[in-house]
Amino acid sequence: MISLVQLFIAPAYIAPNNLIMDPVSKDYSLKPYNSFHIEANARYYADFSTVDELAELYNRFPQNRKLILGGGTNLLFTKDFDGLVLKNEIKGMELVSEDSQYVYVRAGGGENWHGLVLYSLQRNWQGLENLSLIPGSVGAAPIQNIGAYGVELKDFLYELEAFDTEENKTFEFSVNDCELSYRDSVFKNRYRNRFVILNVTFRLNKIPKFHASYDLLAEELNSMGVEELSAKKISLAVIHIRTSRLPDPAIIGNAGSFFKNPVLSILEYKNLKKINPLAPGFPQTEGFVKLPAAWLIEQCGWKGYRLGDAGCHVNQPLVLVNYGKASGREIFELSEKILASVKAAFGIVLEREVNII
Ligand code: EPU
Repeated sequence: MISLVQLFIAPAYIAPNNLIMDPVSKDYSLKPYNSFHIEANARYYADFSTVDELAELYNRFPQNRKLILGGGTNLLFTKDFDGLVLKNEIKGMELVSEDSQYVYVRAGGGENWHGLVLYSLQRNWQGLENLSLIPGSVGAAPIQNIGAYGVELKDFLYELEAFDTEENKTFEFSVNDCELSYRDSVFKNRYRNRFVILNVTFRLNKIPKFHASYDLLAEELNSMGVEELSAKKISLAVIHIRTSRLPDPAIIGNAGSFFKNPVLSILEYKNLKKINPLAPGFPQTEGFVKLPAAWLIEQCGWKGYRLGDAGCHVNQPLVLVNYGKASGREIFELSEKILASVKAAFGIVLEREVNII
């Protein structure tokens, strides 16, 4: 019989019977690892909690396709993944430095995003409160420059470290190097599938500068009777909006906004308004207007639509949902129909925000 002492000192990869356990699993179910709750298998699966473990896995499987998983909250599996799925489990959150105005906080790529928001709120570091409760991991956040209620990650990202899988080296990226724009970054374009984000450093405010003018947020703060803003109150308001309007991925499978909001030139927007005087639009910089894709989809009659277990959410049509047993293919096909009808009705081609695998 193995004593307790032996159990505690045994390295993690040695099983009690002294057989060395392979950290790589075969034909592994990804259902618990994607917020759409889609049944799909990975040919190989492993997690990593250090850069050395990651590098070793890349060395061991040089020819196989790889997929880096964070929280699995922004992807849709339409088939099994015939390669190696690697889940980022790099943990840790720490204050790295501070000056009179800012704190610099580093978090491991495998940390939960909302966990970092709470960690900052507890210490009265201000900045991330509008991004409360966004599902997903810290390492995935810069890839699509997450944003909500008037704030984007790029407003608070300072730098990050990423592993270059081609050169087998770790590089530092400043916020400018990341080329962040609306739900976009260098990691979705030039460096797609090349870098793995290991940790991210944020620059947060000691002297608060709140963003509370986003319509829904301002209304919520008002109905809460908030007179003096604080990061905690904004966070509570955001949490209330999200929990009352958006489906909880733990209960109803979804990956947040399925499409991006299209950005039109002023001229295109004016032409659209001639035919659709009620079309909402949010002015952007340099003569562009962002149109809510939710409005376009609702106009086409999809809000609350359901076929089998695949649906378009009843409160927020930008969110496609899996009510239970929908396949990734069924969700994808619904997204194709939505794309086609928005194109036919408005001449606008929506872009998917969710990664289709
Ligand atoms: N709208 C409708 N019908 C609806 C719902 C909304 O017409 O049923 C229109 C309204 O005009 C409303 C506008 O859409 O004013 C904007 O709606 P909302 O504030 O809910 O935001 P969104 O544009 O639909 C974006 C982000 C969300 C983020 C919210 C809040 C994208 C693709 N999505 O959604 O991000 O939480 O703003 O800031 O930009 C995500 O990326 O996964 C995500 C959830």
